[in-house]
Amino acid sequence: MEKERLINLFDKQATKYEKRRKRQSENMWRRRIFRSVRGKTLEVAVGAGMNFGYFPKSIDYTGVDFSPAMLAKAKVAAKEQAIKSEFILSEVESLSFHENTFDTIVSSGTLCSYEDPVNVLNLFNKWCKDDGEILLFEHGLFENAALSWIQKRLNPLVHKRIGCHQDRDVLEIVRRSNVKVENYDRKLLGYLYMIWARPNK
Ligand SMILES: C[S@@+](CC[C@H](N)C(=O)[O-])C[C@H]1O[C@@H](n2cnc3c(N)ncnc32)[C@H](O)[C@@H]1O
Repeated sequence: MEKERLINLFDKQATKYEKRRKRQSENMWRRRIFRSVRGKTLEVAVGAGMNFGYFPKSIDYTGVDFSPAMLAKAKVAAKEQAIKSEFILSEVESLSFHENTFDTIVSSGTLCSYEDPVNVLNLFNKWCKDDGEILLFEHGLFENAALSWIQKRLNPLVHKRIGCHQDRDVLEIVRRSNVKVENYDRKLLGYLYMIWARPNK
């Protein structure tokens, strides 16, 4: 899908994402994976700022999203949580950080959106410090064959409506990239992927 159309699609969903953030109850899986967030932190495709409540207040945070409406909501969320933050309106693929810039890179529900998620993971690999961590909290294919078959069938329709691919085997994508998987866990019949990764240069 062409970039402008995709941005427009996410702009239109910003209020829905903000409502979801405001009414979310404690999410034990987000709590678990974001426990180790520290230092200079990059969050890609931040959306309406769903994760701020799980980050320590001491971090030096940079959030990126290409949707102006999402980014506006994320700024409000960061302020509410009193997290020192800066925001960049950009497509993740066009960012040009120096190598070894971040202690932590956070991605939640973003590998479903990029045209080439392996390329984006390779950028994380470059931007993350050698002793840093890449935390992925993603959705993708169910482990169950019948359910994943349905996901694959529905994918063209869902992608057109909300801009997210439903048919991605997240673990396989991460393994094809340069980043090194240290640990992972899957929940909700495998639909939810939590991956702790490190750069591998
Ligand atoms: C499914 S939402 C996830 C938002 C948030 N991370 C969360 O957990 O709620 C996907 C977000 O990625 C953004 N996005 C998608 N592709 C992008 C890209 N190539 N560059 C920057 N932002 C992108 C969208 O604008 C949207 O805010």
